[in-house]
Amino acid sequence: MEELPPVPARGLPLSSRAPGKCIVFGEHAVVHGAPELVFAIDLYTQVFVRTDARTRLNADEEATARNAYFRTALEGLWAGGPSIDVRAISRIPRAAGLGSSAAFSAAMAVALGAATGGIDRPTLAQRSFEIERGAQGVGSAGDTSAVVGGGFLAINGGSGPLLWTVRADDRVWEVRRVADPGWVWVVAHSGIPRATGDAVRAVGRRLSAPDGPELLEEFRRVAVEGIRAVGAGERARVAELIERNQELLREVGVSHPRLEALLEAARPAAEAAKLTGAGAGGSIVALPTPGKEAELVRRLARAGGLPFVVRPSTEGAALVEP
Ligand code: MEV
Repeated sequence: MEELPPVPARGLPLSSRAPGKCIVFGEHAVVHGAPELVFAIDLYTQVFVRTDARTRLNADEEATARNAYFRTALEGLWAGGPSIDVRAISRIPRAAGLGSSAAFSAAMAVALGAATGGIDRPTLAQRSFEIERGAQGVGSAGDTSAVVGGGFLAINGGSGPLLWTVRADDRVWEVRRVADPGWVWVVAHSGIPRATGDAVRAVGRRLSAPDGPELLEEFRRVAVEGIRAVGAGERARVAELIERNQELLREVGVSHPRLEALLEAARPAAEAAKLTGAGAGGSIVALPTPGKEAELVRRLARAGGLPFVVRPSTEGAALVEP
């Protein structure tokens, strides 16, 4: 079994960071227990934490009232602790489906875990999930596990080593390592902010319609085969499945005209593309046609997107050495 290094004990002040994430297969369905394939991306959120006379986030003394992630992190992991000043900086666009809230939750869990005696990865994954779920009210352990573990991960699927299990009252998610096929990916933010909780609840309603179980089964089939194909480096098969996954996401109502415009713009320079994350806005992910990465980025920018070339971050949430 792969041993991921624990976060060691460290006194304040300290700094920690966590990557964003990109879901390739299975978003939404994972909330209902189906498999998902997700990788950590090389864009990060970093937090700097020190004791101070007042508790603040980025100079905001009302942050515990205004920011549910900050409040949940402090309530869960810092009860009775001294006042802290937290500064957060991020290269992950917010409300873009790229894991900014998971990265903030995990960076806070690393920092507060280190400052309270150190923390192992399975506990870090569970705590990061509890912060995010506590703040959002809904959701799976996929996003927070991706940013805690780094690399490619299968949630409730795959045959790789079991890294950890995350539990909620009503569900369990098993997290396994998947081999990185070594490809370059392009993501593009549509600029339309989205609310994960609303999208998750809308899909939940759609999946409780009479054809819901059949749809969920098809999500499951695509993700199971997608996890296998990514692990085996079968690019053409992965491309087919990405397209099929996008059809299913349209079917459950989380595409958006701006996302469809980006998918259309990507077509001549991409082997496949789909929305990534909660949808209803947010971002797309594309597998570029080899040699056409720059053209793909130009096309997406011309169509009004904010494109990034991303590589998987092998590093999960961690302390930043001074
Ligand atoms: C959001 O990044 C992914 C969803 O599946 C929600 C979740 O898994 O928490 C839509």
